[in-house]
Amino acid sequence: MKIIRSPKRLNQALFRARCQGKRIGFVPTMGSLHEGHLSLARRARKENDIVVVSIFVNPDQFGPREDFKRYPRDLKRDEALLKRVRVDYLLVPSSRSIYPKGFREFINPGPRARYLCGPKRPGHFRGVATVVNRLFTIVQPQAAYFGLKDYQQAKVIEDMVQRFALPVRIKTCPIVRESDGLAMSSRNRYLSKKERILARGLYQSLLEARRVIQSGHRSVSRIKRVVRGRLLNDVSKIDYVEMVDPESCAPVKRITKRPVLVAIACFIGTTRLIDNLLVKG
Ligand code: PAJ
Repeated sequence: MKIIRSPKRLNQALFRARCQGKRIGFVPTMGSLHEGHLSLARRARKENDIVVVSIFVNPDQFGPREDFKRYPRDLKRDEALLKRVRVDYLLVPSSRSIYPKGFREFINPGPRARYLCGPKRPGHFRGVATVVNRLFTIVQPQAAYFGLKDYQQAKVIEDMVQRFALPVRIKTCPIVRESDGLAMSSRNRYLSKKERILARGLYQSLLEARRVIQSGHRSVSRIKRVVRGRLLNDVSKIDYVEMVDPESCAPVKRITKRPVLVAIACFIGTTRLIDNLLVKG
């Protein structure tokens, strides 16, 4: 695995592969890797000739009071994990190479950013869309891999790709969970032992939502009340509990026969966690 810090160098390195008609698969990450990230890299390995992973903690997608500074960084460990998956190139760009001086070409994240995490984290999806757009320009992959853990993010990226007519296929991959159901996340590292136990409540609440929906309840406000009640056994603050259309990410008024995405964001202590479950109506 070659570790490359300069986007220009990576582009030069990939030029030959591209000319030879090789297929490039790309997995953008912010590092502090876990099985969730590695599942994307493994799938990219299966489906492509060349696999590129990037690690860049993108300052622009964090709010001023969020955890950019303390976001876990562990490059040596990440390198070792990626080598085992037989990644070809690891791009670790500097902030300057992604955002040159005077950079102003921010990407409008589109209509799906209006819901769920959009209003709760102002500027977040603009930052995500912008950095992914730049990374796509650098890597020019045929396929890029995103986890459904960040369902709305994957939808925002699909939309960005369509609006810019980028020649890249977005592939979404299932959520990888710990044995007790907690979705893997770099932010789980912030949790104390006690908080880690409480964090089970997220997935349990999603399962509760599914039970209520599948037992025939149709009123979203009623289902939300049940889920919030379950969640508050464990978490200190609910950011949102929503039932949304899986395509538009807009809240639904009533449960119908169509699938619905149940999405949760909440705080366990000071740590913000998100999770979601697609439920057939
Ligand atoms: P990061 O949180 O590091 O996640 C990188 C990719 O891994 C995302 O596509 C995310 O959905 C996926 N992922 C994280 N946890 C997962 C899990 N438990 N199961 C499956 N996939 C999982 O998401 C970002 O970074 C950034 O916003 C980024 C896209 C890199 C732009 O900066």
